[in-house]
Amino acid sequence: MKVFVTQKLAGDFVDRLAEKYEVVVWPGREISRKDLLRKVRGVDAILSLLTERIDAEVMEKAGENLKIISNCAVGFDNVEVSEATRRGIVVTNTPAALSESVAEHAIALMLTVMRRIVEGDKYVRSGKFKGWEPDLMVGMTVRRKVLGVVGMGRIGEWTARLGYGLGMKVIYYSRSRSVDVEKECKGEYKEKLDELLKEADVISLNVPLNKETEGMIGKRELMMMKKTAVLINTARGAVVKENELIEMLKEGRIAGAGLDVFEDESRVNTGLFKLDNVVLTPHIASATNEARELMAEMAVNNILRTLAGEEPEGLVNEEVWCRARVHKC
Ligand code: NAP
Ligand code: GLV
Repeated sequence: MKVFVTQKLAGDFVDRLAEKYEVVVWPGREISRKDLLRKVRGVDAILSLLTERIDAEVMEKAGENLKIISNCAVGFDNVEVSEATRRGIVVTNTPAALSESVAEHAIALMLTVMRRIVEGDKYVRSGKFKGWEPDLMVGMTVRRKVLGVVGMGRIGEWTARLGYGLGMKVIYYSRSRSVDVEKECKGEYKEKLDELLKEADVISLNVPLNKETEGMIGKRELMMMKKTAVLINTARGAVVKENELIEMLKEGRIAGAGLDVFEDESRVNTGLFKLDNVVLTPHIASATNEARELMAEMAVNNILRTLAGEEPEGLVNEEVWCRARVHKC
């Protein structure tokens, strides 16, 4: 069987695939659409990254052999899952491999914004710092502030634990309740997003991007937040209406934002660059050696298991399993 890997991954896990299957790894960085459509022809498995759109056209080009799309990421909004399901193709992701790393990054962004770390760093480097001043870059104490987690899944839960460890009160809004967070962090469930928006000092977005969460935070929601509140987004850029966020930050309707993800990551909105109360990172929340290796290992294992007819750990479209193409091998 043939496997196409769209980019070189961390570690040597892909070698495990090569022991059993014919494997082609795209040698460059991001693969062009044209090359992707060319390289997937006739393959049994695609190991993709979140930067590639794996839609009906790709599945069609791959043809009847395609049995699994193993996305090396937790988010799978780049994969047309409904189309894969319709065709009997298994879709997998890499949950849990990176939850702690992303949560740590969310908290790092929160501290960086609240303690004005980036501004301070620039100030010292530019030679402006000439000695201690009582009112220089005064920020906010994190302890006793209210952390509002939106989307209490794997990453949300870790973010809540870390925030609780810093002495924050945890509240959350999610589709389902988390018994663990309610027990471990005395987390308080809010039935309505609006309730959370009004009460939280820091809001961490940890929902997946889907039809319901796209544009979930816009002007209306930002206006509900405290003027002193901070928004952290490590989920997906499109969960926030970026232009409206920029407008609200400019007007001082909220105190700041920490963003790891953007609406258009190939051309980040330059309106964000002019704002001192915003900290930006280039979609690196999961970028730790530990997480990258676990992600690669899991993405590879998902293919090995699926092609061997065993249910993979990161199965996204569970409903496809009993009628998956792989069972016809
Ligand atoms: P997860 O375990 O599936 O958690 C997502 C949570 O959001 C779940 O509790 C889910 O509820 C809830 N949710 C879904 N739709 C909702 C809605 N419309 N309203 C309220 N809550 C909703 O996923 P995760 O592993 O924590 O990852 C979350 C997201 O983080 C990923 O999808 C990805 O986009 C992003 N991410 C970003 C990075 C980065 O590098 N910046 C890295 C990894 C992941 P249910 O429990 O009911 O499903
Ligand atoms: C990264 O953004 C992921 O979804 O894994």
